[in-house]
Amino acid sequence: MTTLGTPLSPTATRVMLLGSGELGKEVLIALQRLGVETIAVDRYENAPGQQVAHHARTITMSDPAQLKALIEAEKPQLVVPEIEAIATPMLQQLEEAGTVRVIPTARAARLTMDREGIRRLAAETLGLPTSPYKFCDSLAELQAAIDGVDGKAIGYPCIVKPVMSSSGKGQSKIDGPDDVQKAWDYAMAGGRVSHGRVIVEGFIDFDYEITLLTVRALGADGQVQTQFCAPIGHVQVSGDYVESWQPHPMSPAALAKAQRIAQAVTADLGGQGLFGVELFVKGEEVWFSEVSPRPHDTGMVTMATQWQNEFELHARAILGLPVDTTLKSPGASAVIYGGADARGIVFDGVDHALQVPGTELRLFGKPESFVKRRMGVALAHADDVEAARRNAKEAASRVKPRAA
Ligand SMILES: Nc1ncnc2c1ncn2[C@@H]1O[C@H](COP(=O)(O)OP(=O)(O)O)[C@@H](O)[C@H]1O
Ligand SMILES: [Mg+2]
Repeated sequence: MTTLGTPLSPTATRVMLLGSGELGKEVLIALQRLGVETIAVDRYENAPGQQVAHHARTITMSDPAQLKALIEAEKPQLVVPEIEAIATPMLQQLEEAGTVRVIPTARAARLTMDREGIRRLAAETLGLPTSPYKFCDSLAELQAAIDGVDGKAIGYPCIVKPVMSSSGKGQSKIDGPDDVQKAWDYAMAGGRVSHGRVIVEGFIDFDYEITLLTVRALGADGQVQTQFCAPIGHVQVSGDYVESWQPHPMSPAALAKAQRIAQAVTADLGGQGLFGVELFVKGEEVWFSEVSPRPHDTGMVTMATQWQNEFELHARAILGLPVDTTLKSPGASAVIYGGADARGIVFDGVDHALQVPGTELRLFGKPESFVKRRMGVALAHADDVEAARRNAKEAASRVKPRAA
């Protein structure tokens, strides 16, 4: 049985978000609506989620001592990681000691915080189909992996990524021998911590890629059930999402394979919550790419397409409440970048943007803009995905961010 309390009282149900960007902000809003007391943590002040939570805390989340001190002081019932760069071994210690429950599990947060843990689990433990890959600690190892060491060459083209990175940072494609040094240097500059370890993956020439939002939530019998949202198609530029839509059409065979893969990897990671399973599809062949044990950026489209968007699904699942993954309407999302390096930017043309039929905007409220920082998103629902994509892109293009 789930019992919820009154916020800011001794009965409060307290939930701490580790990371309070645009995705965390929507999770916090969903929790607020259920009267949950929220604590929004980020590495900088006035992060988007901190603006809508009961409490805002600013710490270095990759520092185990700071993380432990904060959790012990705030005593949340649930800790919900929103980002990867967290001292996850400390979360594991605190979970094992019974201090706190980590969503979906501390082990899932640890395994997905770098590309190695989750790739080895998916490919080597679970035997799921993935691109061919190797982990390398030097330029020489990278070259050897591409050329073939133990008879297995990754070959060209291939993709190099720092093991600790997200949103395409430090990631590049290698088309031939001339690109190897450049890709290595780029990865070294773009990783989150400079351990200098990369993954090199064979390039999958997919027809399309999807995010399969997968929810592990309690059914009426108190057992965890796995439910899937309709597939989300998306376009990535330099490893960063610019556009997404739902539903993406799939053959029944490909969809069944995608769901089987998502079921397997989320069952192993365990716990309750929503996961974003990224998959590549070519014909009826499906490859696992990666998984976020939390809402996914491409899933922002669900704010226009589902009765319960991915943030509400996550909030409900982690609280032990039932979920409904039904689609409401076809729709699309298009990212709005900052376009300028400045603090306190302004957005011109918001009225003009919202004149596009069936559209909505989210402006995240990030205090500082960068040229390529995601500052907002346009959402559209329409009778079909093509119209929704057109309208979302049109609305996004009408919003003109500028330095004040
Ligand atoms: N092996 C691959 N073959 C083809 N495209 C890839 C491959 N790996 C990544 N990509 C492309 O780059 C994007 C970002 O890669 P991903 O591993 O998801 O990194 P991130 O963690 O930064 O999201 C993918 O969504 C896909 O478009
Ligand atoms: Mg990705």
